[in-house]
Amino acid sequence: MNFKFSEEQLAVKEAAREFAQNELLPGVIERDKEMRYPEEQVKMMAELGFLGMMVSPEFDGGGMDSVSYVLAMEEISKIDSSCSVIMSVNNSLVCWGVEKFGSSIQKQKYLKKLARGEKIGSFCLSEPEAGSDATSQRTTAVDMGDHYLLNGTKNWITSGGTSKLHIVIAQTHPEKGHRGINALLVETEMEGVTVGAKEDKLGIRASDTHTIMYNDVKVPKENRLGEDGFGFKFAMQVLSGGRIGIAAQAVGILGGAYELAKNYSKEREAFGKPIYKHQAIGFKLADMATDLEAARLLVYRAAQLKDKGEDFVMAASMAKLFASEAAMKHTVEAIQIHGGYGYVKEYHVERLMRDAKITQIYEGTSEIQRLVIARSILKGQLYEQVLF
Ligand code: CAA
Repeated sequence: MNFKFSEEQLAVKEAAREFAQNELLPGVIERDKEMRYPEEQVKMMAELGFLGMMVSPEFDGGGMDSVSYVLAMEEISKIDSSCSVIMSVNNSLVCWGVEKFGSSIQKQKYLKKLARGEKIGSFCLSEPEAGSDATSQRTTAVDMGDHYLLNGTKNWITSGGTSKLHIVIAQTHPEKGHRGINALLVETEMEGVTVGAKEDKLGIRASDTHTIMYNDVKVPKENRLGEDGFGFKFAMQVLSGGRIGIAAQAVGILGGAYELAKNYSKEREAFGKPIYKHQAIGFKLADMATDLEAARLLVYRAAQLKDKGEDFVMAASMAKLFASEAAMKHTVEAIQIHGGYGYVKEYHVERLMRDAKITQIYEGTSEIQRLVIARSILKGQLYEQVLF
């Protein structure tokens, strides 16, 4: 197993770190407080190629591997997870889904604009009554011959107020259960698409999360991704890739909290010495650093399996489960290390803790990741993957 990054991968990491420090850090507290969409910052991410990193150059993307992508996600999430969730959904759910499963017409029409960041994409699976149980879709796409008639409501849609293209998961043949579901490319300008109110969230507050309503939207047949009835498997495969991105986001949040806590513990003195020299604080930092490294290795491994074209479903779920749980646990500890300063906005760690919480929920809750892992290990996958 090779843990050495290539020069190109390290250059991507460095560029993302510089961008996050110089362009995202100023104003991050205010954007969070005011729930202000990072319009300028998203524009810069597009210009720097962060919105279509893994898309092939043929479709105006960066042609990079998943390892480079997770390194960039990590650095950007250390500073601003509102920006990194927009980046993650566009890269791993929308662009990857269209490139892997879309027709050449769909790629020409949509992928180039998505990869250049001219259009931001949304992934519309969750419904008021279909969250973890994603097969029970109430949104319908009735086959009308040359088009689908789309009706329903989607919840918690990242970039819901700003995206121009939705991938909508909807039921066409209810009698076939999950095998009757389709994934459709829906332009927000199509008649009948309504964007609901913006959610007032605990964390990732600068990202715009909305409910979306579809009322008799006519979606051309050529906008269906894959064969008739492929929509659920499309969603599952795309989400497995997405989970690597969210795991990297959790690693970034944890890494940010760790850096802040470590630096603070060197500056802050109590009982005549810097607080890191007190075992109570030193042990917290040690646990934080150990979990950070373990989470990183799971994330890089999942990304590497994806790059090699191997089965990465279980590895992605393990990475997301471990990284998001560790991010939540240690951002709380980072606040504890900061004492009262950790409880105020100026010191950033309280925001990192609020942002960490969503990584245990979206793109499959920790409970769903455990379910995926349990099913995989019972099929014998862990045995094959761990004994290299
Ligand atoms: N790849 C390919 N196919 C898959 C798959 C995968 N990763 N996982 C499941 N499937 C296939 C199965 O093989 C099965 O196909 P067949 O019946 O033809 O054999 C079919 O899909 C149904 O699978 P299950 O029987 O396992 O379905 P289930 O209902 O028992 O459970 C689940 C599936 C794993 C729980 C799934 O519903 C799930 O992942 N739920 C969580 C949904 C989720 O992650 N939502 C996130 C919302 S999106 C979001 O957050 C985006 C954002 O904006 C940030």
